[in-house]
Amino acid sequence: MCGDVDLSQVRSLMRERAGGTPAAFVRTYGCQQNVADGEKMKGLLAELGFRFVDSSEEADLILFNTCAVREHAEDRVFGNVGALKHVKQKKPGLIIAVCGCMTEQQAVAQRLQKTFPFVDLVFGPHVIHRLPELLYQVLSQPGQVRLLGQEEKTIREDIPIRRDGRSRAWVTAMYGCDNFCSYCIVPYVRGREKSRRPEDIVQECRELVEAGYREITLLGQNVNSYGKNLEPPVRFADLLREVEQIEGISRIRFMTSHPKDLSDELIEVMGASSKICKHLHLPLQSGSSRILKQMNRRYDKEQYLSRVEKIRAAVPDIALTTDIIVGFPGETEEDFQETMDVVYRGGYDSAFTFIYSKRTGTPAAAMEQQVPEDVVKERFDRLLTEVQRIAAQKAERLMGRTEAVLVEEVNARASGLVTGRLSNNLIVHFPGTEDLIGKLVNVKLKECKGFYFFGEAVR
Ligand code: 5AD
Ligand code: SF4
Repeated sequence: MCGDVDLSQVRSLMRERAGGTPAAFVRTYGCQQNVADGEKMKGLLAELGFRFVDSSEEADLILFNTCAVREHAEDRVFGNVGALKHVKQKKPGLIIAVCGCMTEQQAVAQRLQKTFPFVDLVFGPHVIHRLPELLYQVLSQPGQVRLLGQEEKTIREDIPIRRDGRSRAWVTAMYGCDNFCSYCIVPYVRGREKSRRPEDIVQECRELVEAGYREITLLGQNVNSYGKNLEPPVRFADLLREVEQIEGISRIRFMTSHPKDLSDELIEVMGASSKICKHLHLPLQSGSSRILKQMNRRYDKEQYLSRVEKIRAAVPDIALTTDIIVGFPGETEEDFQETMDVVYRGGYDSAFTFIYSKRTGTPAAAMEQQVPEDVVKERFDRLLTEVQRIAAQKAERLMGRTEAVLVEEVNARASGLVTGRLSNNLIVHFPGTEDLIGKLVNVKLKECKGFYFFGEAVR
């Protein structure tokens, strides 16, 4: 049983509808947290007897796990769902479901319902565990089934997970966000911060190691505030220390850090650890203290740079990556130059650059002085050129070195190659075979392609 529904009943109804083993096509957009949610939904679907396919044409169930952070991601979903209208006409038994952050915005959910009446199921990220029951409703009654806005107080620890990777795994440390950066929709759609109990996280990591995983990435919108609301409170640095003690884990990563909460203690733990990867993702968003204030980020340019200085002193060879938004309302050329200044001084190994996207319901959407599109685009291009130049320069420095690569997969595009990652998160391709997946291999880095390498195993 799962909630009020008998799994075997859903299984047989679904088999009947598909005329055999049902096939699911799950498409995830957006952040790593969404990827982790997608793996949970796949776990539940596997329990219901589904197999998984890579193309929507073969599917009996198509599930769009959506992202609401930027308008562009939403437009893609509207386009992709719209394209299914004819598919559904030809194959009426097909089930189309839309879940994830987009659905939790009222206007978007309404638009989905109005524009796409052929969508069978719409549900939010808080009710993933109820997928079997929701599918049962779809299978047993006509009309669209919707379940939104049901934030739960407790965290469900009993959802099966079907992981995409074989050597590295995502482990959610906390859900939601309390920061309310003025441009960001996440706190509205993902709800308040909720941390998992450390013992549940450690147990999941242990099981992963037993299953052959070597690298764990702890996830949260702001992992630095992990554990504040637990009883008794737990600090993120303590959680890292505990995870580090698990025998068999080779690498630990975490995402995302908020600069305002990056503690000296965490920096110390990173410096002292042999397992925590020498990589920190520290979103800057803007280099202008004035804009940072408008963004409600609660740090200024100097505070950010002093965090960077501190981490570089404690972990000298650390790779630093960031997120930057261009064109926040009221951003002047002067503000933009402040961002460029941090880009030069921060020396990022890589940066995700975004054009500001107006999100209805956030404070920034109501701000005056939205920056004209052509001005934003021109700044964005200048930023991207510099970010890429600096990143390539950084990567180039590793040329000729022999570094440990954790092998993730056989390269799908070039035969005879496997693909893995360095501790600093850069990708490396080198000649090898499937048996290397999950192994740490010393690889000489021979050719630098800007943000990835070709290399050769060293015995
Ligand atoms: N517009 C553009 N970028 C955004 N991000 C979050 N909200 C917006 C928005 N409204 C970016 C931030 C964040 C990353 C995940 O997405 O840089 O760190
Ligand atoms: Fe959004 Fe800010 Fe929370 Fe990140 S910390 S999810 S940018 S509100």
